[in-house]
Amino acid sequence: MLDKYNREINYLRVSITDRCNLHCVYCRPKEGISLQGHEDILRYEEIIRVVSIAVKMGLIKVRVTGGEPLVRRGCIDFLSQLKKIDGLQDISLTTNGIFLEKCAQNIFDAGVSRINISLDSLNKDKYSKITREGDLDAVLRGIAKAEEVGFSPIKINTVAIKGFNDDEVLDFARLAVDKPFQIRFIELMSVGQPGLDCHKDYLPAKQLLQKISEHYELERIENNHNKSAGPARIFKIKGGRGEIGFINPVSHHFCSTCNRLRLTSDGKLRACLLNEAEIDLKKALRENCSDAELEKLIWDAVLLKPKQHDLICTENILKKCTRNMSEIGG
Ligand code: GTP
Ligand code: 5AD
Repeated sequence: MLDKYNREINYLRVSITDRCNLHCVYCRPKEGISLQGHEDILRYEEIIRVVSIAVKMGLIKVRVTGGEPLVRRGCIDFLSQLKKIDGLQDISLTTNGIFLEKCAQNIFDAGVSRINISLDSLNKDKYSKITREGDLDAVLRGIAKAEEVGFSPIKINTVAIKGFNDDEVLDFARLAVDKPFQIRFIELMSVGQPGLDCHKDYLPAKQLLQKISEHYELERIENNHNKSAGPARIFKIKGGRGEIGFINPVSHHFCSTCNRLRLTSDGKLRACLLNEAEIDLKKALRENCSDAELEKLIWDAVLLKPKQHDLICTENILKKCTRNMSEIGG
């Protein structure tokens, strides 16, 4: 599927629930957010239908995300249903890792081999603070289990937050020395209704890169955005087992190589994380649309993809995206 700017769109990220067992401060305010009801979210069979049609149109990769995907009942069966779709080459999962110790083997057996785990602090108290009561040890046990089971790659997503985890950058780098993980620092984006000030707490990735370079010898690894590499700029640490990555959607966007569409938990096909244009698939699905109609709607979404996203970060302007990340998919 080629979009208006000649980008090949072959990757769909699916938020299967807006619910989460954690309440990260950059994701939601203290008082919480209003959650979608059972009828609001797409049923698994509806998602499978959308993916099956999109695969015929050229989709090859699906990432299942949320909210926290593992809180939705039936998630692992759903993953095995996805695995049965002929032509779908790659299924991956983004999770906060809390349930991984228990589920990693089943997820792997369902056919998912790539997993991304959110981890914003290696300090127990700070982790609990950023996630509002999350248990760091549970995540660390989950990551260890994921490694034992054989997931590869294991990517750790760390949102860089000024004054919160910038002092842990070298600890995360050390993790990439010791373990075969790809540790990715992600610039804080202003999405939805966060419980912190995304402008004030934003930290450009280049500051982290500089700090790490002062302590470790880094070697840039070339990245092919249309394969499994994703948007990160990746570095190997000399002598280390893992890698360090930087995802810079704010300071240095990767829109020119974007290959993604997103299916929101309430069934909207969204052309860009940070652009509000969406196509309502749920409505069509529930009005018993034909496959041809669904295909046309998927095309409409591909053609809606903007040249680049709307988030602008200058000295004083940080534009916001109004939908919550948990609905759009992290
Ligand atoms: P793969 O390519 O499947 O390996 O995944 P990935 O490298 O994209 O990683 P992941 O899905 O875990 O994304 C990591 C983070 O990057 C997300 O949580 C977002 O913060 C950011 N991100 C991912 N995709 C996009 C995108 O299309 N636009 C923007 N602005 N940010 C994105
Ligand atoms: N800015 C950057 N990344 C975010 N994520 C969620 N909210 C934000 C945000 N405001 C990412 C985190 C998490 C994934 C699910 O989504 O990396 O790992």
